[in-house]
This record gives sequence, structure tokens and C-alpha cells, in this order.
Amino acid sequence: MSILEAKDLKKYYGKDETLVKALDGVSLNVEKGEFVSIIGTSGSGKSTLLHMLGGLDNPTSGKVIVDDKDISDLKGDELCIFRRRKIGFVFQSYNLVPSISVYENIVLPIKLDGKKVDKEFIDNVIDTLGLKEKVNVLPSKLSGGQQQRVAIARALAAKPAIILADEPTGNLDSKTSQDVLGLLKTTGRKFNQTIMIITHNDEIAQMADRIIHIEDGRIIENK
Ligand SMILES: Nc1ncnc2c1ncn2[C@@H]1O[C@H](COP(=O)(O)OP(=O)(O)OP(=O)(O)O)[C@@H](O)[C@H]1O
Ligand SMILES: [Mg+2]
Repeated sequence: MSILEAKDLKKYYGKDETLVKALDGVSLNVEKGEFVSIIGTSGSGKSTLLHMLGGLDNPTSGKVIVDDKDISDLKGDELCIFRRRKIGFVFQSYNLVPSISVYENIVLPIKLDGKKVDKEFIDNVIDTLGLKEKVNVLPSKLSGGQQQRVAIARALAAKPAIILADEPTGNLDSKTSQDVLGLLKTTGRKFNQTIMIITHNDEIAQMADRIIHIEDGRIIENK
């Protein structure tokens, strides 16, 4: 069953001599439970694609269908709530809330939704990501790699159907990267989650069920 679909997505920035075709006709289909990696050189359009798929930005043309819903039909709060319930994001910049503790950051999406925190699951995620000693501190007291792990924990916390991650291991050493990917894969399988990760790391890309290669805003390989 397809959970995520892009139909001839285009995203153009600027015009005339400053025109940038960040995405230039991308179509893809992701099955429920699939684990997909996105690779491509810097500036090829990977982050742009992830943002469009997650409804964070509007395409110039084309469609994104999430769980049988055309997300361009959703507006404002509706889109916000749909996104929060369905999708967990890990951004290239971590987007943690600086004024609240690591733990509060991790459970924030659940609280915003008025849902109950699955304490055992959260503790397991925190443990696996090596954040146990840091749960009560502010994000500013953490290293880049630790902040990245908090962002990953936050994305996993509400067990969303889809996880979209932009270089989730970019700041982690190779052992921690493998562990984090292992965790994503295990929880992904357990909760039948769909995972898309952008990565520059070949070993990580190879851990996926499928690799989508993007260059110049187009898919050049999808297998
Ligand atoms: N807001 C914007 N305004 C103008 N151009 C943009 C904007 N955002 C992205 N671009 C351009 O779109 C292209 C694709 O950018 P994108 O961020 O998707 O690349 P990327 O593949 O994620 O690169 P990286 O690996 O460096 O993160 C680049 O040429 C970039 O300069
Ligand atoms: Mg990027």
C-alpha cells in the first residue's frame, strides 16, 4: 500500500537569470513500512524534496499525496495537525526548543496532540540514543551530535506513520550512526513506519530497502 506519493513535483526559485530548478519533475511512490534513502550531491534538491513531501513548503507545481490525502487540500491548522499526527521530522538543523529540557523537547509533539506518553517506549528510545544522563538539561548544554540525537528521539516519540529525516547522522561518529540507524530500522519495523532519510554516508544509504538518487532536481536512479 502506498503511503507517500509525489506526482511531477517541481519547485522553482527566482526567475529569469536567477531561476533555480530545485526540483524539476519528481515522481515517486513509497510503500507503507518501506525504508528509503535519498542520496545526491550538495544542492541537488534533497532537502527541498523532503520539505515538499512533509508539507512544509508548497511546490511550484505537482502533487503530494500522504495516506490518500492530497496535502494541498489542507490549509493552516488543518495541515499543521495532519503533519504532527502523521510525520516525524528530523531536520538538518535540529530545531529544538531552547527554553525547555531535553525530555520536554522529546515529548513535545505528543503533548501538543494531547496524547498520552508511552513512558516505557520513550525510556527505551532515550536509552538507545544514549541520552539518559541528559534528559533534564537544556539543549544548549549539548554537543551537536547530542542535539541531533534529541531531534531523532523527538521524531520517534509519537510513533508517527512516516519519519522524514534530513541527514540524521550528519554529526554522529560512525558507531553512533550505525546504532541510530539500527534503532530507526527496528522501531520502523515494529510500528510499520515509513522512513525516508537523506544521507551522504554510503554505508547508511545501503541499509535502506531502496535508494533514490537525485541530481539537478531529478531522480536519476530509484532502486
Ligand atoms: N529558499 C531558497 N531560495 C532560493 N534557492 C533555494 C532555496 N532553497 C534551496 N534553494 C536552491 O535549491 C537547490 C536545492 O537545494 P537543497 O537544499 O534542496 O539541496 P540539498 O540536496 O539538500 O543540498 P545539501 O546536501 O547541501 O543539503 C540549491 O541550488 C539551492 O541553492
Ligand atoms: Mg540539504
